[in-house]
Amino acid sequence: MTHFPALPLQTERLTLRPYRADDAEAVFAIFSDPRVMRYWSTPPWTSTAQADEAIESDLRALDSGRHLRLGIERRDDGALIGQCTLFDIVAGCRRAEMGYALAHAAWGRGYMHEALQALLRYGFELLELNRVEADIDPRNEASAATLRRLGFQLEGLLRERWVVDGEVSDSAIYGLLRRDWAEARR
Ligand SMILES: CC(C)(COP(=O)(O)OP(=O)(O)OC[C@H]1O[C@@H](n2cnc3c(N)ncnc32)[C@H](O)[C@@H]1OP(=O)(O)O)[C@@H](O)C(=O)NCCC(=O)NCCS
Repeated sequence: MTHFPALPLQTERLTLRPYRADDAEAVFAIFSDPRVMRYWSTPPWTSTAQADEAIESDLRALDSGRHLRLGIERRDDGALIGQCTLFDIVAGCRRAEMGYALAHAAWGRGYMHEALQALLRYGFELLELNRVEADIDPRNEASAATLRRLGFQLEGLLRERWVVDGEVSDSAIYGLLRRDWAEARR
């Protein structure tokens, strides 16, 4: 049984697809970049083995329905430029958390907005979610702008929730309900 039907997802410029083993080099390049990892929940990766392990773990999670992580491939040159994820899926409450990252060179062109519109549509329409949430560092302005552009509302602040490499940081919690999303699309 497939928990995540109808993949890959296509948008105007992008293909959102499960990772392949040969994505490891591109994935490592993204997650070893301190600019991308500044507000991430782990320090920058230091070994390509971390990319191999992450890809294997993501593929197992996809098979078991645990989480949906899709690589973002730019169609015009085939480059893997990022990832977007629905994780911590709680089927009974019809909710999931969303995460995302883009290679630094791909920032500022609307790629993530385009990718997340497709991921949210998939989550609300195919997976029948009612709520998608995001937990970001309140200092992560680019991420906050991405969420606001998609219609997410800032719902609260959880203090000192993370410790990454010895640095303590807060969580800004954003939420988008299915009805907000449907209303915005009308
Ligand atoms: C969060 C992150 C994905 C945002 O990247 P981004 O490039 O700003 O987001 P988008 O791809 O949606 O692009 C939006 C930007 O492109 C511009 N843009 C250009 N063409 C566009 C288009 N066709 N459509 C929409 N926006 C477009 C927008 O104006 C906006 O720029 P602005 O914020 O300066 O106004 C990126 O900063 C990142 O990967 N950060 C590191 C990882 C991270 O922190 N993730 C979040 C934690 S979960």
